[in-house]
Amino acid sequence: MPAQHTRRAVLSSSLALAGTGLLAAYAGRGAAADRSSALSHPAPSGPAAPEGYVSPDGPEVAAAERRRGAGPLREVTLTATPSRLDLGGGRTVSSWAYGGALPGQEVRVTAGDTLALTLANHLPQTTSLHGHGLSLRNDMDGVPGLTQRAIEAGADFTYRFTVPRPGTHWLHPHSGVQLDRGLYAPLIVEDPREPLAYDREWVVVLDDWVDGVDGSTPDAVLRELTGGHGHSGHAMPAAPAAEEGDGGPPRMLRGATSELLGGNAGNVDYPYYLVNGRTAEDPSVYTARPGDRIRLRIINAGGDTAFRVALGGHRMTVTHTDGFPVRHATTDTLLLGMGERYDVLVTAEDGVFPLTALAEGKKASAMAVLRTGGGAAPGASVRPKELDGERVTADRLSPDASVALPAREPDRTVRFRLTGSMRAYDWAFDRKPYAPGQRHPVKAGERVRLEFHNQTAMWHPIHLHGHTFSLGGGARGARKDTAIVLPRHTLTVDFDADNPGLWMLHCHNLYHAEAGMMTVLGYLR
Ligand code: C2O
Ligand code: CU
Repeated sequence: MPAQHTRRAVLSSSLALAGTGLLAAYAGRGAAADRSSALSHPAPSGPAAPEGYVSPDGPEVAAAERRRGAGPLREVTLTATPSRLDLGGGRTVSSWAYGGALPGQEVRVTAGDTLALTLANHLPQTTSLHGHGLSLRNDMDGVPGLTQRAIEAGADFTYRFTVPRPGTHWLHPHSGVQLDRGLYAPLIVEDPREPLAYDREWVVVLDDWVDGVDGSTPDAVLRELTGGHGHSGHAMPAAPAAEEGDGGPPRMLRGATSELLGGNAGNVDYPYYLVNGRTAEDPSVYTARPGDRIRLRIINAGGDTAFRVALGGHRMTVTHTDGFPVRHATTDTLLLGMGERYDVLVTAEDGVFPLTALAEGKKASAMAVLRTGGGAAPGASVRPKELDGERVTADRLSPDASVALPAREPDRTVRFRLTGSMRAYDWAFDRKPYAPGQRHPVKAGERVRLEFHNQTAMWHPIHLHGHTFSLGGGARGARKDTAIVLPRHTLTVDFDADNPGLWMLHCHNLYHAEAGMMTVLGYLR
């Protein structure tokens, strides 16, 4: 495909600019004006990006990729396209999705494979594709303005990298609030030597839904939350209001509280909550046989909603969080912040059972159904008692011995204050809204400790790209890439700096992130 090669050639020349700061400058305030011409015109000049840092396409990144090897080539194409989506129960909405499906078609590969993942952009805007949870080469991380240029409307781009390790991950754009449309898909990396024994697998994707309902769009929601100020640091400016009518009814949520989340549960009042693209009124049904051992891979793809999940009539054995194995622990229910994943094993009973995902603190829920026998389907509002049963939290999980970080004192500690308020909607790290030129330095080979001091009255699911930290710090914490920081609490995590590049660190509340709660860890050269 010649077009693809052209785009790739342009991309590599644009990446050469990263070290000189031109790419970062392009992605800043100039982006809004220039987004339609990003690939056909040279980047405008602007303030230089910080010097002395590894460049996303630098030799350090290539060397790290060589150490990962290169297994068999797997080629997959995802097409991001405007789509009419059926959410069940006669509800259809106009939105954007991968291949017109919700969730997008699952991408399934084996650890060690070389994945050539082409994103074809049929959207009316630029986009990007990020593999959430992957420790991949930095220039394939999919962050416009930092690791690549945004993919133009009508263009495509191939993400080519070695898939590092097994796990339950997912794909989504890293462009504005596009994730809160239907643009998400599971990315399942199988283990060539899978140690778990199970009969079947059920991938469960949770989502909160507003796009296309009574004229609402995520861009309009962001404008409402921020009072119109938004922020300009991201590569993806909000679409002009003219494209989307008046933006629908008010969607701001006030007074949603959750004990589990330590206070304010969320900011957005979604009309629907979905499991695998369906509302509870017309749920997706998973069929198995009584006695089957089923591996559930649960992914929270929501924008502003934590989900409390339980399978009626069953206990769950937690085997992984964020793709990394843990010492098996049983639980009745789990709470997932946005971006978090849990793998659990269940042994199916005989009958029909609700898999309920409570929109935590929002007085609503989503549901799918497990059917192994006869009987009527559970009603949409059924609330399995397991939701109020025992709940294992991530900090009570221990890593499987194969993935525990070796005990080591940190070489460097980076402290962040989580700041901002619902009223001002000025979420940030250390009161500084995101700018692509921000760098928090780390050095290859270091054990790095991150401390998050949450000074806000709200919880935040904090996500680090390209690495998996140990929760709580040290050797005893479960390995994760996304972790909930409760209001007024401090979270400490440790990671080994073994993947050079420029890596996003952000809140996975999409609206908090867009308001400014994002920053960059940069490897020093
Ligand atoms: Cu789900 Cu910056 O990522
Ligand atoms: Cu947040």
